[in-house]
Amino acid sequence: MVSKEPRKIRSMFGAIAHRYDLLNHALSMGIDLYWRWRVARRLRPFLNQHAPALDLCTGTADLALQLSRYSRVVGCDFTHAMLVLGRQKVRGKSLDSRIRFVEGDALSLPFADGIFSAVTIAFGLRNLASYRQGLQEMHRVLRPGGVLAVLEFSQPRIPVLKQAYVLYCKHVVTRLGAWISGDAVAYSYLPASVNEFLTAQALSRLIGECGFGALKSVPLTGGIAVLQLGRKEGKPAQASPQC
Ligand SMILES: C[S@@+](CC[C@H](N)C(=O)[O-])C[C@H]1O[C@@H](n2cnc3c(N)ncnc32)[C@H](O)[C@@H]1O
Repeated sequence: MVSKEPRKIRSMFGAIAHRYDLLNHALSMGIDLYWRWRVARRLRPFLNQHAPALDLCTGTADLALQLSRYSRVVGCDFTHAMLVLGRQKVRGKSLDSRIRFVEGDALSLPFADGIFSAVTIAFGLRNLASYRQGLQEMHRVLRPGGVLAVLEFSQPRIPVLKQAYVLYCKHVVTRLGAWISGDAVAYSYLPASVNEFLTAQALSRLIGECGFGALKSVPLTGGIAVLQLGRKEGKPAQASPQC
């Protein structure tokens, strides 16, 4: 079992922050940017000017930047070095008025109840010490009718793609990641944590148990990643996550 001890996770991301974007885009051949774009497009009908969206585990703010096309965004993460890089990117694009950053823990969010129109978390849930506690916090800070979007790696279902993916993670991700970041531990943690993570079905069930309805699971790139959508009960949002 890989350790999800928060101090270890924070120091791991702190150590690789300077190479995080480069490795993300190189190892995914740029597909990660498309995945985040898809999340923002899906959420577009639910984002509005009245309440901001929360991008949890925002890291270097790539998803926050996509969301900011449609809404004000709060990016929250507990690794200072990741937020510093995120802030630089946001400033470089003159989007300071659209995206604000808060340093905080996903397991105990520093926000009042019911204030966000949407909560997103991309490649972050897998790193939490308790998925349930994290999802319950996301539910708490969402407005009634607000939408949750969880983007995570998954296991492709097509056998050939699955085998190729396993070999790619084992031989390319671990080696290239270690070489470029200088951190072998972090880039062996990545495939190990993906292997241990919940199946798409189990994650969808857990999201439902944490109070979300209208669940939808959208496989991306043959199921290498999955976008899970859910809605907090209450006054309905104007569109359903299916559209
Ligand atoms: C794999 S990165 C994902 C970053 C970004 N969402 C993206 O799409 O590239 C995971 C991020 O989750 C953050 N993180 C992990 N556990 C956290 C926690 N308990 N509270 C807040 N942030 C956390 C890490 O600091 C890291 O920036």
